[in-house]
Amino acid sequence: MFTSTIDTATEFEKRFEKINTHVFDNSANASKAVAQQIAALIKEKQSQNKTCVLGLATGSSPKSLYAELVRLHREEQLSFKNVITFNLDEYYPMKAESIHSYVRFMNEQLFDHIDILKVNIHIPDGTLAKNEIAGFCTQYEDQIEKAGGIDLQILGIGGNGHIGFNESGSLQNSKTRLVALDHSTRIAASKEFEGLKHTPRTAITLGVHKIMEAKRVILLAWGESKSAIIAKAVEEGLTNLVPASFLQEHQHVDFVLDKEAASKLTRINKPWLVEEVNWTDKLISKAVLDLAISLEKPILMLTDADYIENGMSDLLAQMGPAYDINIRIFNKLQNTITGWPGGKPGADDNKRPERALPAKKRVLIFSPHPDDDIISMGGTFKRLHEQGHEVHVAYQTSGNIAVADDEAIRFAKFITDYNEAFGISCDEAQRIYNKSFDFLKTKEIGGIDIPELRQIKGIIRRGEARATSHFVGLPDSQIHFMNLPFYETGAIEKNPLGAEDIALTIDLIEQVKPHQIYAAGDLADPHGTHKVCLDAVFEALKQIKHKDFMKDCWLWLYRGAWQEWGIDEIDMAVPMGPDQVIEKRFGIFKHQSQKDGVVFQGSDSREFWQRAEDRNRETAELYDKLGLAHYAAMEAFVKWEY
Ligand code: F6R
Repeated sequence: MFTSTIDTATEFEKRFEKINTHVFDNSANASKAVAQQIAALIKEKQSQNKTCVLGLATGSSPKSLYAELVRLHREEQLSFKNVITFNLDEYYPMKAESIHSYVRFMNEQLFDHIDILKVNIHIPDGTLAKNEIAGFCTQYEDQIEKAGGIDLQILGIGGNGHIGFNESGSLQNSKTRLVALDHSTRIAASKEFEGLKHTPRTAITLGVHKIMEAKRVILLAWGESKSAIIAKAVEEGLTNLVPASFLQEHQHVDFVLDKEAASKLTRINKPWLVEEVNWTDKLISKAVLDLAISLEKPILMLTDADYIENGMSDLLAQMGPAYDINIRIFNKLQNTITGWPGGKPGADDNKRPERALPAKKRVLIFSPHPDDDIISMGGTFKRLHEQGHEVHVAYQTSGNIAVADDEAIRFAKFITDYNEAFGISCDEAQRIYNKSFDFLKTKEIGGIDIPELRQIKGIIRRGEARATSHFVGLPDSQIHFMNLPFYETGAIEKNPLGAEDIALTIDLIEQVKPHQIYAAGDLADPHGTHKVCLDAVFEALKQIKHKDFMKDCWLWLYRGAWQEWGIDEIDMAVPMGPDQVIEKRFGIFKHQSQKDGVVFQGSDSREFWQRAEDRNRETAELYDKLGLAHYAAMEAFVKWEY
């Protein structure tokens, strides 16, 4: 059915799963396969002279699917003339022409580019008066029935397991209705709305009942951030706390996943519980650390019985007793800890994460946004500099869209006041201020700024990044602002990576000739700036790795603001004492525009410095709980072979 999946799991291996899952190597290939299914259905209906009723979703997940459907229409003449669509939901209240409306989303992503008849498009109406909504919802369900019911329903899934906007707590027989949005849903949406306070609180959604009545359902999920909820919906019990779990009772449902979204399914996450595995070093570490964590025991306290009772008796039989395996994993983890991220000069480096030589290394830290360096690896950054390495930092993007409007206008005013105070005549500064001020009076929330404002916002972030680097101790000559062009759309949606982005990255690497490169290794966020920035580094390295100076260059990946590496993945853990934690906090504070309620909060309401401290402390605590040394905090890195 689904071709080109990388999934070779047998029914036996999928026995923990209560829903059909299909795992693809990436979301683009997965979307293509789903588009093929949709195209086949449309054509089958065409050949029978019937209409094809599609239930459609919005959000980031179906974007690549819609792009592929548009391609099929343009290049392979797939016609949508017999297609009737019903969208799942719309924010309420919401004007159709708003940049945030799902009407606009659907037109831009799909409807404007295909030959669907406008009368066949249905999207819940966000402009109704409140007392009209109930009637509208009944009518919406009637229209679906009149059309013959939904032939194929496309779904995304919320981090809390919602389908449509049927949030946790929705009933399986819930009808189409006005709902209050969950806090986590609003936080996830807030990046489109410039912050939580502008994010709608309510929406109209198709009920679970009608979704369950669809003849076929395909749910799409991409990225690591969806992995936990996917595992819950697929493997745990049916519960209205996770509305997607209702789909366990649907007769014809498929979850189409990229490998990151699938990564917490038991067969992928803990394959030793599912089948006989080939015990590689990596798998042994993962299994043993997982065992210690789940039993809340230090590694060296695991017993034979623990292994046997937790599905690891074959490992014990092959490599036991437990004592031997424990020691092996304990030592391995112990060897990841180093206070010398650039290598310890004069020390035996056999078991250390980094080489001792050259004693003074050139280091290039790539920071996707102007604050990722200090947030994610501030302690290591400072230590590298203090230990005498030549540290360069490269800010890959301007980060300009994350500065609040009032912050920008405050700085523009500062310039005019400054000019006035010192008798500097500069009409241009006043003109820019006036223009920006006037523009902001009518700017739509989340709208694209005029170039002047973007520039001001970029300068603010640049100043903050420079302040951090100075705080660490770098001279200006080692601070690089790359302003990668892919980022400069002024909107949340960025351009794809281009040749110029790669060329700028190559130029800088060639200029610095580093022994170590640090980059934000957020591999799992298919739409995020971090992933694009990482792709720029990967592509640059691919193109120049044959060069002589690159033979000496190691690539270390740190994780961005959102999550940490799994303990089994960490190759280097740089510990910090309590004072160093405070010092790092002051480094993060230099990013004043990102404090006190940042524009793009993500799904986490803590401020960046709090997230960084919590994460670094949690990593240290984990090492402690596993029976290793107790530090205040730790920054973690993975060595990446390129
Ligand atoms: C959108 C919808 C929602 C989204 C879900 C996932 O029409 O009904 O259920 O599918 O919130 O959103 P993304 O795909 O943006 O992660």
